[in-house]
Amino acid sequence: METKVEKIDENSLRTAAHLIRIGELVAFPTETVYGLGANAFDEAAVKKIYETKGRPSNNPLIAHVHAQYDISSLIDRDPPYAAALRRAFLPGPLTMVYPSTKKVAPSVSAGLNTLAIRVPSHAGTQAFLRAVNLPIVAPSANLSKHVSPTSAEHVFADFAGKISLILDGGASEGGIESTVLDVTGEVPLILREGLITREMIASVAGKCEKYFLKDGEQAKSPGMMYKHYAPRCETLLFDSLPEALAAYHAKEEAGKRVWLLTGGKWLEQLPPIRLLSLGAYPKDMAANLYKQLRAGEIMADCIVALVPAERGGIMAGVLDRLTRACRS
Ligand code: TXA
Ligand code: MG
Repeated sequence: METKVEKIDENSLRTAAHLIRIGELVAFPTETVYGLGANAFDEAAVKKIYETKGRPSNNPLIAHVHAQYDISSLIDRDPPYAAALRRAFLPGPLTMVYPSTKKVAPSVSAGLNTLAIRVPSHAGTQAFLRAVNLPIVAPSANLSKHVSPTSAEHVFADFAGKISLILDGGASEGGIESTVLDVTGEVPLILREGLITREMIASVAGKCEKYFLKDGEQAKSPGMMYKHYAPRCETLLFDSLPEALAAYHAKEEAGKRVWLLTGGKWLEQLPPIRLLSLGAYPKDMAANLYKQLRAGEIMADCIVALVPAERGGIMAGVLDRLTRACRS
């Protein structure tokens, strides 16, 4: 199968909408990461996502809709605080998990009674979702366990020959996946951290909890169970600069092509070194993380990652992704 990469315009949107309607997959940009999309009502198409990605069948998918789409037939209960959160943060990088009416194809929710819904803010995504006018389920457009994609080139690297169309909307500005928030209870519960932070949600909803998996319990969000986002080379993770530098030099002496990945204030203290820079500020670190992990796996035998010292706000999401990528 030939894989076309096309800029978003009237022609490519028409092709994309046609492919979705006949049950094919289309990759598309969002403000967080690229997604691999299918019609949420088409069970065979949804199954194709799991097969094409190599995704475990118990890990549910997010349904993406355009800003005017009426989600009331898809969700069973909608607490007042959820409406306030939608007004405050959507369209944007916040996914909300509702009790499901089960109108979408069964594989979407992978056996759960809930449905995750997201309204992306990227203008190209909105245009695509309006052209289709259906909920589009989409995981990140990477092979399962590989680093998430923030450009059409990243998607092409994983899926060339496996899907027919990648819509190219440029580099994803946000760079890490949406915040996933369970709104089925009295208090909103963060299942996955992202660019909409716990503080931001609490400022609108009054409260916001973070979900932690307890021993022996079934995960509320199965995606949390998996090693994720991993580059295809050795990765080592350190909190201290001297330890990271010692590991870097040891690898170098062993004849390995080693690169150091870090960001924030550490950048001011580094000796000359092969550096995968995440940039100075939290927003840059989110935007550059996956790009630099993907660049690193091509150039390096080993990535030595030095955990940025910055904390708070979106750093929770950045550090979550970095530690998962480098967890052995
Ligand atoms: O930013 C994003 O959310 C991107 C773009 C493409 O929109 N999508 C994305 O999808 O990251 P994916 O499939 O890679 O991650 C979805 C996460 C998984 O951790 C999954 O377990 C969780 O959302 N999830 C999906 N449906 C759920 C549900 N009904 N209940 C709990 N967690 C759910
Ligand atoms: Mg993913």
